[in-house]
Amino acid sequence: MAELKYISGFGNECASEDPRCPGSLPEGQNNPQVCPYNLYAEQLSGSAFTCPRSTNKRSWLYRILPSVSHKPFESIDQGHVTHNWDEVGPDPNQLRWKPFEIPKPSQKKVDFVSGLHTLCGAGDIRSNNGLAVHIFLCNTSMENRCFYNSDGDFLIVPQKGKLLIYTEFGKMLVQPNEICVIQRGMRFSIDVFEETRGYILEVYGVHFELPDLGPIGANGLANPRDFLIPVAWYEDRQVPGGYTVINKYQGKLFAAKQLVSPFNVVAWHGNYTPYKYNLENFMVINSVAFDHADPSIFTVLTAKSVRPGVAIADFVIFPPRWGVADKTFRPPYYHRNCMSEFMGLIRGHYEAKQGGFLPGGGSLHSAMTPHGPDADCFEKASKAKLAPERIADGTMAFMFESSLNLAVTKWGLKTSNCLDENYYKCWEPLKSHFTPNSRKPAEFN
Ligand SMILES: [Fe+2]
Repeated sequence: MAELKYISGFGNECASEDPRCPGSLPEGQNNPQVCPYNLYAEQLSGSAFTCPRSTNKRSWLYRILPSVSHKPFESIDQGHVTHNWDEVGPDPNQLRWKPFEIPKPSQKKVDFVSGLHTLCGAGDIRSNNGLAVHIFLCNTSMENRCFYNSDGDFLIVPQKGKLLIYTEFGKMLVQPNEICVIQRGMRFSIDVFEETRGYILEVYGVHFELPDLGPIGANGLANPRDFLIPVAWYEDRQVPGGYTVINKYQGKLFAAKQLVSPFNVVAWHGNYTPYKYNLENFMVINSVAFDHADPSIFTVLTAKSVRPGVAIADFVIFPPRWGVADKTFRPPYYHRNCMSEFMGLIRGHYEAKQGGFLPGGGSLHSAMTPHGPDADCFEKASKAKLAPERIADGTMAFMFESSLNLAVTKWGLKTSNCLDENYYKCWEPLKSHFTPNSRKPAEFN
């Protein structure tokens, strides 16, 4: 496949035409009486019409047929997609999952949509406030099927296998260690090339933004120009057997048939688009003297709540970096948090847990549930010589951190069969080193 082209920037006003149809974007207006090339004009609104300019999001699509050209939607099998947060009772324990198993294609062909599994979540879809964490486990490309989400935005974190994503705005190739965001309402279809796995953070009713930088200044963390937006690409393809449009609406799946590919947008302009980002481009900031900055310095994207500084969900990464802090216990500190912390591992070994937390697995530390380095990590880091050292080379762990209290689904706790019943044991060997009569560091045995 020829290398794909992208537009660079975050949240910009962009314009793109498929080069096969030069001049397909109307000049000077959005809604001509007749569009160039006799296309249909269609607006996709990602914010209320009346939002302030800084948060107002919409794009204009110029397409062969408008999206409304479809048969009625009908309810379909939900699979493992849910927004029922009361399937099982709450569980405050530290939870950890072994790598979620990908079905073998010889057993069952599963595409991205049929391979969606809701792991945990909170909030209310109907009032546009909340989130869900899904795991996708698939082995087959979506064939004459696309998906769109009426409930919220998908932040997709591939962990194994690359994703070729067809969208109404063009094509994106998203590989492990890259992420993409497909916002509410955007239709997409995913081709995969092997047994494929990844994580999805879905937020209802808000969009992801870059975090404010405060005293950090104008640059740093995820820089806007490293976000990549697809360029217009269309196919004028009839599908006599019917093309299936799958919609997640109020948490339920519906399907409608149409006779043409939905990727029939010849040109578009606007600031409401899908985008991708390579996590290698994250400019890491860290303590260069002593102690830890809180992990919020690793925030790539945030979906803000209405309360200042409090996120529905933050997407945070723990990238390769230098550890240089003097006189400091360098691994993550022991912690209890009013926020909920779901972690996943794209590759490598997470520094606070050398075993047990594996790529393709996950962990959930719920509100005020204690967590921190395992006993082995504590012992080693308490005695380590504090030279500058590389941390997390070849590793990419991430966190979805939320102000909501997450409920785990029945699939997460039982059906997936991946819950690690022994997780708590990693802290059992922690022992007291207290020496009431001496302030000097204890010698470890
Ligand atoms: Fe934490």
